[in-house]
Amino acid sequence: MARNAFERGLVGPAARAALVAGALLCAAVIARADDLTARVVTLTTQRCAACHGVDGNSTVGTYPRLAGQYPEYLYKQLTQFKGGPGVPPLRHNEIMQTMVKDLSPDEMKALATFYAAQKPAPGAASNAALVDAGARVYTHGGANGAPACISCHRAAGGGIEPDFPRITGQHEEYVQAQLHAWKSGERGGKGKLMSLIVPLLSEDEIVAVSAYVAALKQ
Ligand code: HEC
Ligand code: HEC
Repeated sequence: MARNAFERGLVGPAARAALVAGALLCAAVIARADDLTARVVTLTTQRCAACHGVDGNSTVGTYPRLAGQYPEYLYKQLTQFKGGPGVPPLRHNEIMQTMVKDLSPDEMKALATFYAAQKPAPGAASNAALVDAGARVYTHGGANGAPACISCHRAAGGGIEPDFPRITGQHEEYVQAQLHAWKSGERGGKGKLMSLIVPLLSEDEIVAVSAYVAALKQ
């Protein structure tokens, strides 16, 4: 039987130790990746699914749909709920703050990757009458100078990776809540694009454009 270099003594003790250490390191990295995959399954099914659905297609208007969103955006949001050294807490939400409290950056990245890979279900506006008025705001901007949403979020709401999130078919109630949060200063911060734009929208424009966003199709 052919003996390998190890058995024939062709590999010196130092190289041998390095090879063994390398193999152990590989095994450790693979084990960590397996642990992370298992942890994501546990978290998504036992923690996040209650509100966001198993595949990120939430069916409740106050819980955002996550499926098909850009991973960079999802990760950024999770870090902003969590806050911490060097991360300004640009989003304040008690529920989500509790959800991410014990999550590591690697776990948050893996969760973002998971939801980004899910297939988004189509949305719908609850108030179809508002959709036409919303279309004007979305494509031409607001009466008081708010820029058209289409320039950053694109015609079908697909956004531009990685900075401008996908908003196609997002729940009307959630979109409205976020626009109100930017208007009141609860979300965002100085110099942030949405914090500059939303205060220029009237209440009627917020309601109409939210219906339009919910009705957008891919
Ligand atoms: C009890 C309900 C609930 C659970 C459970 C929950 N979330 Fe959320 N999630 C929310 C709400 C409500 C918001 C909107 C918060 C806001 O208004 O800023 C949100 C927002 C988010 C956002 C921002 C989405 C966007 O489009 O900006 C992400 C990402 C997210 N959740 C991920 C998760 C993950 C990952 C888990 C599991 C670890 C989880 N959530 C568990 C209720 C929940
Ligand atoms: C100049 C670019 C720009 C324009 C114009 C713009 N947005 Fe945004 N929008 C952004 C950015 C950047 C974010 C991500 C903010 C963050 O990271 O929290 C965002 C986030 C959002 C979100 C949050 C998505 C989520 O899942 O929470 C909604 C909803 C939204 N925009 C709607 C609109 C609407 C409606 C308009 C038009 C009135 C508009 N945007 C115009 C850049 C823009």
